[in-house]
Amino acid sequence: MRAPLIAANWKMHKTVADARAFAADLLPRIGDARGVEVAVAPPFTALAAAAEALAGSDVALAAQNVHPAPSGAFTGEISIDMLRELGCRYAIVGHSERRAIFGETDAFIAEKVAALQAAGLRPILCIGETLEQREADRTFEVLSTQLGGSLASADAARASELVVAYEPVWAIGTGRTATPEMAQAAHAFVRGWLRERFGADADAIRIQYGGSMKPENAAELLAQPDIDGGLVGGASLDPESFSAIIVGR
Ligand code: PGA
Repeated sequence: MRAPLIAANWKMHKTVADARAFAADLLPRIGDARGVEVAVAPPFTALAAAAEALAGSDVALAAQNVHPAPSGAFTGEISIDMLRELGCRYAIVGHSERRAIFGETDAFIAEKVAALQAAGLRPILCIGETLEQREADRTFEVLSTQLGGSLASADAARASELVVAYEPVWAIGTGRTATPEMAQAAHAFVRGWLRERFGADADAIRIQYGGSMKPENAAELLAQPDIDGGLVGGASLDPESFSAIIVGR
C-alpha cells in the first residue's frame, strides 16, 4: 500500500542556522517512525545544511521549486542537477503561491514535471481551487484542468513516483482546513483522474492534503482512504507540531 508522505514546506522561512537547529530537534522526536515517509523542503539557501544535518536519517530532502532547463541564462533560477547534487529526492512544483504570485502556468509546470521525472527526481505537484471557484461549484473542473495541463508531458512509465498535493487555496495559511469529507471527495476525484490517465499505477501515487494541516486535524485527514500524507506549511516550522503530525497519525 501507499506509505504516507508527510512533507514540511518551509516557504521563505529559516536560515542555515535555523535549519540545523530544526533537524537536531526533529530527529529524536520522530525516532524511526515506521510506515511513513518524512520530507523537508527548506529554502534553497538551507538545502545543503539541511542535507548535512539530516544525513543518516530517513528524512528526505525536497526543493520548493526548480527550473526545467538543464542550465542557461535564467537569473535567479536553480536547475535539477544543482538539486540532485545536494541530495534532493523531491521537488515541489506548481505551488499555488508560485501560480498566483509568480504567474506560473500549467504549461511551465508540465515542463518541470517532465524534466524532474527524466532526471529521476520526484515531483510533488500542487493543485487546488480558490474559494471563488469552490463556491461556483467548479472545484473538479479546476482540478482536472490543472492535472491535465501540469501532467501533459508526464512520463507514464514513472507515474508511480509522482506525488500530487491537493491544496485548496482557501485553506493555505488561513487556519481554515477542508473537512475530512471535503478533502476525501477531492482526493477521490484526483485518484479517478489519475486512473484514467495512468491506469493501475495511479493506485501507487501518493496524494497529499495541504492547507492548514496541524496536529489537531491531521489524524482525521490522514485516516481518509485517498489521503496519503500532508504538505505542511505553518505547522512544519516548529519541530514539536511537525513531529506531532508524524507520530500522532
Ligand atoms: P499551510 O501551507 O500548512 O501553512 O496552510 C501549506 C502549503 O502551502 O503547502
